Amino acid sequence: MSISPPSSDRSDVTQIVVVMVGLPARGKSLIAGKVKRYLRWTSVKAEVFNVGKYRRTDNPHPDAKFFDVNNPEGEKARKAAAEAAVADMLKWFQDKDNKVAILDATNSTKSRRKWIHDKIMEANLLHLFVESKCDDEELIMSNILEVKTSSPDYIGQDPEAAAKDFRDRIRNYEKVYQTIDESEKQLTYVKIINIGARVVINLIQDYLQSRLVYYLTNLHIKPRSIWLSRHGESEFNLEGKIGGDANLSERGERYAKLLPELVKRSGLPKDAPLTIWTSTLKRTSQTAQHLQKELGWEKLQWKALDELDSGVCDGMTYQEIAEKYPEDFQARDDDKYNYRYRGGESYRDVVIRLEPIIMELERSENIIIITHQAIVRCIFAYFMEIPQEKSPWMEVPLHTLMKLTPKAYGTEVERFKADIPAVSTWRPKGSTAKHHDSISEGMPESVVGEPSKVGIQKATNVNEKAMGEVPTIEMVGLPLP
Ligand code: SIN
Repeated sequence: MSISPPSSDRSDVTQIVVVMVGLPARGKSLIAGKVKRYLRWTSVKAEVFNVGKYRRTDNPHPDAKFFDVNNPEGEKARKAAAEAAVADMLKWFQDKDNKVAILDATNSTKSRRKWIHDKIMEANLLHLFVESKCDDEELIMSNILEVKTSSPDYIGQDPEAAAKDFRDRIRNYEKVYQTIDESEKQLTYVKIINIGARVVINLIQDYLQSRLVYYLTNLHIKPRSIWLSRHGESEFNLEGKIGGDANLSERGERYAKLLPELVKRSGLPKDAPLTIWTSTLKRTSQTAQHLQKELGWEKLQWKALDELDSGVCDGMTYQEIAEKYPEDFQARDDDKYNYRYRGGESYRDVVIRLEPIIMELERSENIIIITHQAIVRCIFAYFMEIPQEKSPWMEVPLHTLMKLTPKAYGTEVERFKADIPAVSTWRPKGSTAKHHDSISEGMPESVVGEPSKVGIQKATNVNEKAMGEVPTIEMVGLPLP
């Protein structure tokens, strides 16, 4: 048995404050949330400190006048909120395992940034100012629309009145807003203009800072979806064997044939190109072959999308592993995320090799990924913020297509299940190593997300004969901020 280092053992990672900068409705909170999710997925402990949340303790629904620089009461309350957020953040850093805090606020004046910078220097932390500067009217309008319907500041208010007040609030901020410029060249910063149309980078000194800058400059907010599917049932699946490079079973072939229709039924963006990504293993290429032939989409093979390497256990059934390596079988059950197969990989290892895939996914538009059980779990965990102790246990049934659509405050998930039977390869924690020859059931709800983040689930039953029906079996709301 070999266990890779636990998540808290990241002494190589420095402690950094990411300071957001920008007018309201410039996507700062969206960026802050994504950075936190990305870092946590890579086992870096990260937290967002949102000044608006602190301000809401005493001023839950202020109108635009509260944000007027000529309103001393408002000014005082806003400074107090910023001080409370910074104080909590600095306390949080006393735990040396905590690595990246994201201070989510406008921080729109030079004097405010100097004050924060001095606090960070006193505490001996690194910093990275991230300014989102945007004059794209369409983008600002869509953010205003989002705020008027989802911000706790405007809860229960008439949406039109909320939008008007929010625009007035922005105007008040504009009166004093100072973009980061030459006079602040002592700061480490990245300035993202019109969501990546132009980027200015200054004084990056550290590995994690540069990783963050790379991630930030890859982000875009164009509407798009990512389709995720396991390969069709394979001959190894039928025998309950893991790993290998087997061909599809007869039922797996049927799934491959049906996949173009299933993808079409899931709703394709109009005139938007789609690229297929597969692993280098036969069963994923075979599953993608009809998609490529019928729909003419480009196909790319990625070694990084290959199934988790099960080392000496490759080609064995769980029963055989339990008999030959009982200690390993137990160790994997005890800590599946960190357990590394002898001569193979752990889930933690897989996440590391998937990082370039996530970067590329963030840069890309519509992608359909045909890959393997462990890989689907890791990619799904990134988008849905599934914690490490849960993600390796998620049930990902065969012959089921998932469509992930990133939205401003989370990722919408729809599932489309083909009516083609397949074995279940899911082994719940603590269960015996018995191979189940049953038809796979859908992912249990508990694994779709945290209780507060339940995704939309759609299930589409499609078979080769009758595809008229597209029944929606569940719709339980978008993930919450
Ligand atoms: C707020 O009070 O909503 C945010 C304060 C700020 O960042 O300016």
